[in-house]
Amino acid sequence: MIIVKTADELVKMRASGRMAATVRDEVAGRVAPGVTTGELADFAGKRIIALGGESAFLGYHGYPGQICVSVNDEVVHGIPGSRRIEIGDIVSIDVGVLYDGYIGDTATTVMVGVTDREVINLVKTTEAALYAGIAKACAGARLSDVSHAIEQVGKQAGLFVVRDFVGHGVGKTMHEEPQVPNFGKPGRGPRLKTGTTIAIEPMFNMGSAGVDVQADGWTVLTRSRRPSAHFEHTVAVCDGRAEILTVGQE
Ligand code: MF3
Ligand code: CO
Ligand code: CO
Repeated sequence: MIIVKTADELVKMRASGRMAATVRDEVAGRVAPGVTTGELADFAGKRIIALGGESAFLGYHGYPGQICVSVNDEVVHGIPGSRRIEIGDIVSIDVGVLYDGYIGDTATTVMVGVTDREVINLVKTTEAALYAGIAKACAGARLSDVSHAIEQVGKQAGLFVVRDFVGHGVGKTMHEEPQVPNFGKPGRGPRLKTGTTIAIEPMFNMGSAGVDVQADGWTVLTRSRRPSAHFEHTVAVCDGRAEILTVGQE
């Protein structure tokens, strides 16, 4: 069942989305050489609490972090810890905030002094694909129109679309129906309805699409061990353009 939120629920989704985005941007601003991923997560945890929310990730199926921090060949679900960020790294910061019963889920990938043109292409293209997907998330469109738009952007840039992890409906729980793949033929799947809230989250790899889950049970790595980027917004489907709920403070 694809849930449609009421106007009152969307007000709450805007609040949790704004908090998640604020923390995402604040953490992204602290990504720098020498900083550990654990320090970023500690900061995130404190900021989420200070804003009146709680981490939607901590304890989720036993996940041990406040946020996910995924560096270079880590695709998603990197567990924060003692790893120090270095010049040339790309760092995905994924933040989920639960506030007043509703969740905002959002991610960005930060480049730390990256000069490699291929890596810059990877990060810029993944972000562009997120917005290409959002542009298709209008009431009346078919779900796979979003998926297809994302895939096209990645393919055209010579990148590989991760198939084992997908976007998702989001609301009272982090992962609701429908799944939102980052690939597929257009014109398939359910029609999108006004008030449906989904997390759109392209994950693109260099090298190949394959991924492996590390021995920690969480960290997803590219099989090629080449870099991967990830961007995510929680959006509400509207009659016209989708509303991005994970926008930070102006
Ligand atoms: N935020 C991730 C997503 O975008 C899910 C993280 S689950 C966790 O779907 F347990 F790793 F936090
Ligand atoms: Co996320
Ligand atoms: Co998500």
